[in-house]
Amino acid sequence: MIKSIQELEQIRKKALEELEFRKQQGEGIRVVVGMATCGIAAGARPVMLKFVEEIQKRNLQNVTVVQTGCIGLCKYEPIVEVYEPNKEKVTYVKMTPEKVSRVVAEHIVNGKPVYEYTIGYEEAKEANK
Ligand code: FES
Repeated sequence: MIKSIQELEQIRKKALEELEFRKQQGEGIRVVVGMATCGIAAGARPVMLKFVEEIQKRNLQNVTVVQTGCIGLCKYEPIVEVYEPNKEKVTYVKMTPEKVSRVVAEHIVNGKPVYEYTIGYEEAKEANK
């Protein structure tokens, strides 16, 4: 069936919007730092600053650092989540500025998560206590 110009225009607009949406969502890496009260108390601020510093220093254009509120795991704060397009989220716990350097070098730059700093690793450690 031949579609009207209007219909075609709508389809085109929708495709463009989707593309834009995917760009915002998909491309690039998002580093999300939990900055609820407990996060801040546990030292999330220097962790966040360290991420921003490392990312600027290396001039990583495709990485954004954002803050969020409560992630819901007080005892593991400071918590940092790393979202990469088409990959599973990685949750880092008990973060420190020292750990940040390694996460940026190994995970953000080279795509290899630092498992010793992740929640799964911490939980397994606690379960074996
Ligand atoms: S109050 Fe600690 S994680 Fe929400």
